[in-house]
Amino acid sequence: MNKKLIVDLGERSYPIHIGSGILETVGDACKSVGLDGKCLIVSDENVAPLYAKRVFQALETAGFYPTLEVLPAGEPTKCHEKLIHLYSKAAEINLDRGHFMIALGGGVIGDLTGYAAASWLRGVRFVQMPTSLLAMVDSSVGGKTGVNIAEGKNLVGAFHQPELVLMDLETLKTLPKREFAAGMAEVVKYGPIWDADFFQGLEETDEIFPTIGKIVARCCEIKAEVVRQDEREGGLRGILNFGHTLAHAIENVAGYGEYLHGEAVAIGLVYAARLSSRLKGLSSDDSARIEKTLANLGIPVAMPNLAWSDLRVAMQNDKKTRDGLVKYVLIDRLGHAEVGCEIPEEILEEVWHETASR
Ligand code: NAD
Ligand code: GLY
Repeated sequence: MNKKLIVDLGERSYPIHIGSGILETVGDACKSVGLDGKCLIVSDENVAPLYAKRVFQALETAGFYPTLEVLPAGEPTKCHEKLIHLYSKAAEINLDRGHFMIALGGGVIGDLTGYAAASWLRGVRFVQMPTSLLAMVDSSVGGKTGVNIAEGKNLVGAFHQPELVLMDLETLKTLPKREFAAGMAEVVKYGPIWDADFFQGLEETDEIFPTIGKIVARCCEIKAEVVRQDEREGGLRGILNFGHTLAHAIENVAGYGEYLHGEAVAIGLVYAARLSSRLKGLSSDDSARIEKTLANLGIPVAMPNLAWSDLRVAMQNDKKTRDGLVKYVLIDRLGHAEVGCEIPEEILEEVWHETASR
């Protein structure tokens, strides 16, 4: 399966190439969007040994001058220290405004490199080459870039759209099972917020891998459409944060890296679905279907052993907070979400305890 989609953002529009053997096409693909000269390829220590050489060679063959920088794998790399390290590297190789960066890896590498590209020399161009399922279906598309700080996830960052997104589905074959399952949480999310038929398809699928190309493409179509309508999250784009208020708090309180982002999202989806039943009329059957589908896909949905009071404080730091009030995303039925929902304190806590003790 080879497919090309467009994220339609006027002069910031860009293509997404999805298929097999895409890594080797990076040189020509970069040329086709007018990139030129030097590039800083950023990857991590798991992904680089597997794929960086092929990407490096394809770029050299096409006449580019690549430099590879390999960072430690995992969430703690999405931090200011590594960002400054990338600036130093860019300075060392004289990466100027006509040059570009490439993120080769999962969402951590994509978010960090994207932010380095957004801020180096006040902005250079960059290419996303996601190799994890989560990065393919979510983080590599839409231009959100950034790093974490001690006070919360993704609190520092910028909107900076890539020039090009290249997804080689073959790379998913080396992705650890746990990471694949975590990525499926973001896949499942698209059902409740946008596409009930897609959700039903996931519910009924026995084996995901044979249809992964179609699944990735459908998620990218949905994300591209949401971003087209609301690039800077004035409203609609907020639906992509369904389940994420609690998820980000779990990651923060447990310590970045303890829970994979997708694992925290899965727990957040269960919680958000139950809140939706309580407040928005989502049937409890549909709420249970979300939970069951996540579990069937091998995603752990047990509530973490963390204190509600700590989570609640962390939730307050969520980016959706306005004037001290946390705004939540809820669904009133499968396929339809609402942003900006306010939830009484006692319901937040009650549903947490109810979900934790199920
Ligand atoms: P990750 O980047 O840590 O990658 C997961 C793990 O899989 C890492 O150990 C990585 O080395 C390894 N890996 C990746 N591809 C591999 C492959 N093909 N073969 C073998 N190993 C491979 O994490 P992630 O789950 O990809 O992304 C999570 C991050 O994305 C979080 O920081 C989250 O906040 C962010 N995110 C951002 C957005 C956005 O819109 N920018 C959206 C969702 C999530
Ligand atoms: N993953 C949330 C967003 O891109 O808006």
